[in-house]
Amino acid sequence: MAGEMLKWLSKADRALGRLDGVTSTLPNPDLFVGMYVRQEAVLSSQIEGTQSTLEDVLSFEMHVRENERPSDVREVVNYVAAMRYGLEQVTGDGLPLSLRLLKDIHARLLAGTRGSTKQPGDFRTSQNWIGPEGSTLRTATFVPPPVPVMHDALSNLERFLYDRSLPDLVVAGLAHAQFETIHPFLDGNGRVGRLLITFLLCEREILAQPLLYLSIYFKRHRTEYYDRLTAIREHGDWEGWLAFFLRGVFEASQEATQTARSILALREDHRAHAATFSGKDNAAFLDVLFQSPYLTIPRTAERLGITKVTAGRLMERFEAAGWLEEITGFRRNRVYRYAPYLALFDTDAHTGNDGPDEHTQADEL
Ligand SMILES: Nc1ncnc2c1ncn2[C@@H]1O[C@H](COP(=O)(O)OP(=O)(O)O)[C@@H](O)[C@H]1O
Ligand SMILES: [Mg+2]
Repeated sequence: MAGEMLKWLSKADRALGRLDGVTSTLPNPDLFVGMYVRQEAVLSSQIEGTQSTLEDVLSFEMHVRENERPSDVREVVNYVAAMRYGLEQVTGDGLPLSLRLLKDIHARLLAGTRGSTKQPGDFRTSQNWIGPEGSTLRTATFVPPPVPVMHDALSNLERFLYDRSLPDLVVAGLAHAQFETIHPFLDGNGRVGRLLITFLLCEREILAQPLLYLSIYFKRHRTEYYDRLTAIREHGDWEGWLAFFLRGVFEASQEATQTARSILALREDHRAHAATFSGKDNAAFLDVLFQSPYLTIPRTAERLGITKVTAGRLMERFEAAGWLEEITGFRRNRVYRYAPYLALFDTDAHTGNDGPDEHTQADEL
């Protein structure tokens, strides 16, 4: 089994190196990092049943469809904000990756959502459990440690986050499993634990850009994800978990590399093509679209510092090229989406869950 783990460690390392190589040669990675972050937020939230899609989030940001599933979209929007905040902290002069940061992240994640009654920003003060919907403490699949044991385990975890003696990817995998096993919050443990992986890899500068996200893999193999976590507790099978985790790093790195290459190819193609368009601002508008693939005419005008009339004509040219699609069908307040770019982030075709629903329950006494 150790052989299996080492095999995946080396494959994961190499795939991650390739991802970093591709993204560090990109002319303008900042343009599309935001899309990776949003996509991760969506997938990580979907693992435990949030219904929002990437396009829901983008249109929410445009202030359309504000009344549809507001609570679900809010969860994902919070996730994006929490991710950005955490990355700023650990890669800048802010907080290091620590229990304090994780509590801070938790508060941001749950603010104003249905989890806001679940002690946001605080570790639990009561017993919780994991099991199918409707299960009780007695019938639970897993009962995390009681509160005093939880605090000891959290101190150990925090110390482990500073460990530099093991490979960084191994630390990330072990830290995630440790965190899920401790389950220190009443809700949001899965999401905070997955954010922890990103923060750790970015704090340790494994990647120059935050582009490696595992939720796509965890979602696709959700039953195995949960079973592997269980096997650590029941059989002490850390190596099996690590092999599973590292295989995820490998697969997710390969997919992220592929997406980055497709983005690059699309950008080159569309830049060359846009250079033949009439009028000005075509190249600048293309860059705006890579950052914000949902746009209105006023928003475009504002972003480019041009009049609304000019922005309207510019967008008409892009619509005529088949790049922009109008989504509202209204005559006013029209919203356009940059379809060929969004298609590169469409993972729905192959991210179906592979198991029945499990829910975390919390005893709120
Ligand atoms: N058997 C298990 N052992 C430990 N952790 C688990 C197990 N099954 C699921 N989990 C973790 O618990 C998370 C769900 O806990 P929850 O607090 O509801 O988080 P969230 O609200 O972010 O989904 C899952 O996403 C997974 O990471
Ligand atoms: Mg939950």
